Amino acid sequence: MFLQDKVTHEFQKRYGSEAAFVIRAPGRVNLIGEHTDYNDGFVLPMAINRAVWIALRPRDDDQIDVYSLDMDETLHFELEAFENTQQGWAEYVKGIAWVLKAGGFDLQGWEGVMAGDVPIGAGLSSSAAIELATARSFAAVAGIPWDPPAMALLAQRAENEWVGMNCGIMDQMISAVGEADHALLIDCRSLQTESVPLPPGTVVVVLDTMSRRGLVDSAYNERRRQCEEAAQYFGVKALRDVSLEMFNDQGDGLEDVTRRRARHIITENARTVQAAEAMKRGDAAELGRLMNASHDSLRDDFEVTNEALNQMVTCAQAEASCYGARMTGAGFGGCAVALVAADAADAFVKSVSVCYEAVSGTAPNIYVCNATEGAAVIEG
Ligand code: GLA
Repeated sequence: MFLQDKVTHEFQKRYGSEAAFVIRAPGRVNLIGEHTDYNDGFVLPMAINRAVWIALRPRDDDQIDVYSLDMDETLHFELEAFENTQQGWAEYVKGIAWVLKAGGFDLQGWEGVMAGDVPIGAGLSSSAAIELATARSFAAVAGIPWDPPAMALLAQRAENEWVGMNCGIMDQMISAVGEADHALLIDCRSLQTESVPLPPGTVVVVLDTMSRRGLVDSAYNERRRQCEEAAQYFGVKALRDVSLEMFNDQGDGLEDVTRRRARHIITENARTVQAAEAMKRGDAAELGRLMNASHDSLRDDFEVTNEALNQMVTCAQAEASCYGARMTGAGFGGCAVALVAADAADAFVKSVSVCYEAVSGTAPNIYVCNATEGAAVIEG
């Protein structure tokens, strides 16, 4: 059953009426531009056909009641008084209520059913999908005008300050502003976006290694610190402001690890802008080459891949139908992404599955993804 039917069906069962609204907010896959967002740089993600859905109706009071079909858990709280109790998925919902209140919005209670098919902890932004679906629900119920970039910034703040994950803006932004059939070049400093289509005759394939790693937060925060240190060394606001030339001239004064972290960000920013140009020309070969170079840089300079991601990317790159492949998301586990000739996609999925299982001993989950629109009211 489709998720839309699942949440509306469950809503009917629990509340005995039709839902007033059905909301959808997507996960994302990032084609290129990794760890550049918190350096004020460029990213090139697309919203995907895996999403979080909420069927809901308003309440007359200030109570929130959300049943998660995936977790088989109910979250209940009052908008007047609620606390962070470190409850996993529930904190994303509460965090959005908190940030909207802090932003001066008048909220109204609602009750609903939530379900999603964005794999958790796989680098496809399941948390941003919950955040934007929740924000869209509050906005629908309380009649708050929907301004996608502004909502993305609020959702990021909820994740930073309520959940305690110091993420950049990419995931919330693409879940809010995604466009069907397009990836978006996002300037994470100005939040300007430019939509770019996939090269003709290609598809995006997501390759889940099934490896999940804890401690991502501490490694992530360490990378952020190293990037800030490097920006300070160059005397700029963020590494976005350091050109390759400047890096080559002055970078030698940096300690080795910090220098390599900075080199990843500076070269990755350049690759991301070039990748968008390549897409506009329909140049699949060049986009693929840039994706491969991105993976090398994330593996060797930024050091955020793991063995499973490297094995998966090696398997994917070995296929003649593959233009390029790289890890996607924060790293340390989760998914890789590949650009593949559309007419060979089925064969690619089969061969890479066999290859990855042979080298890693684990059966992967590999599928073709479509670019979809961002958070929206689907019914109601
Ligand atoms: C996570 C964060 C994003 C971004 C990526 C790495 O997904 O939430 O803000 O930093 O990692 O590119």
